[in-house]
Amino acid sequence: MIDLRVKIFGKKLQSPLILASGPLSHDGKAIVLAHQAGFGAIVTKTISSIPAKNPFPHLIKNSRSLLNCEKWSELSYRQWVETEIPYAKKHGAIVIASIGLSQPDVKLIAQAVADAGADFIELVSYRSDSIVSMVKEAASLVKIPVFAKVSYNWHNYAEIARECVKTGAAGISAIDSVGPGLRIDIHSGKPLLGSSDGRGWISGEMIKPLALHCVAKIASFNPEIPVIGVGGVNNAEDIVEMFMAGASVVGVCSLPIVKGLGCAKILLSDLKKLLRQLGYNSLSEVKGVCQSYLGRDEYFTDGRVTIDHEMCNNCNLCIKLCPYQVISLKRKKIYINNSICHLCGYCVSICPKEAISLVE
Ligand SMILES: Cc1cc2nc3c(=O)[nH]c(=O)nc-3n(C[C@H](O)[C@H](O)[C@H](O)COP(=O)(O)O)c2cc1C
Repeated sequence: MIDLRVKIFGKKLQSPLILASGPLSHDGKAIVLAHQAGFGAIVTKTISSIPAKNPFPHLIKNSRSLLNCEKWSELSYRQWVETEIPYAKKHGAIVIASIGLSQPDVKLIAQAVADAGADFIELVSYRSDSIVSMVKEAASLVKIPVFAKVSYNWHNYAEIARECVKTGAAGISAIDSVGPGLRIDIHSGKPLLGSSDGRGWISGEMIKPLALHCVAKIASFNPEIPVIGVGGVNNAEDIVEMFMAGASVVGVCSLPIVKGLGCAKILLSDLKKLLRQLGYNSLSEVKGVCQSYLGRDEYFTDGRVTIDHEMCNNCNLCIKLCPYQVISLKRKKIYINNSICHLCGYCVSICPKEAISLVE
């Protein structure tokens, strides 16, 4: 039986699944629900010195992802430290207090959340030029480990993450939602979101490749520190990818908003099955396995595409969608003309039966 429990800085987490900061951790009761649903730790909605007032509406579904212009917590930091964090701690949750958005906010709030019982702190900023000073402030004030949340919107996120670690961050969370983006109501022509110029931030499935790249880069720069890999995780396969990129635990925000908190139990059970199928006995065996393939300059230009006719169900999707028209039917069987194939690999990624493979 694979044991999915993990330990971070001496704290035992019931699972490697973290509920990332967002509407589902809006208060103490919500945090306890997430804890009972199986999340190993819960990051509070970001706490700041002034409670937020959100535009209406501020959260919409965008295909299988989300677009939001939700700000930080609408509750005061006093309510968080007097009521919400103590309530969540009393009911057994591992609480990561998210603090934003500037160094004066950290100065006001960091010690208070630590005193209220928070297990860790996560710092978040909309601006790349303030996160390092926030880390410095928090690290000088509190004894509990401090994570810095890094945004893909910062072009030099890997350097910033390294600077945060040098300044005192015990770990990094990556990534925040990505944007800005815009959606329009085609009946009225108005933006779908209620922010001043309709802008919103994308999260969920769409951002997974961005998150994976960011996590992999940060983990390669800072192999000694834990990375909370967040962004676009939708199923057990995505969790494995995050671990392979170098994450130590994996966060989700959009998935439970789309599917409900019950997704945690399903993810964890699927993850155990998947690890067994892939031949792993623990998550630590999976962590960072992709790292040795990254940062290489050389790449293959030669190869061949092969098809397993036993597995092929003759759906002809590869024939229809091959961008270079090199696939056809020959004697009722799929035929790939390797002499003119451009080796783009698209057919491999779309075959519903996984019957096509690339041979280097
Ligand atoms: C509606 C919504 C509200 C969010 N609020 C916060 C927040 O207050 N603080 C924060 O650090 N991140 C916030 N996030 C970002 C998430 O914590 C997470 O980093 C991001 O959504 C990527 O993960 P996902 O693809 O699993 O959603 C929010 C995301 C969403 C969708």
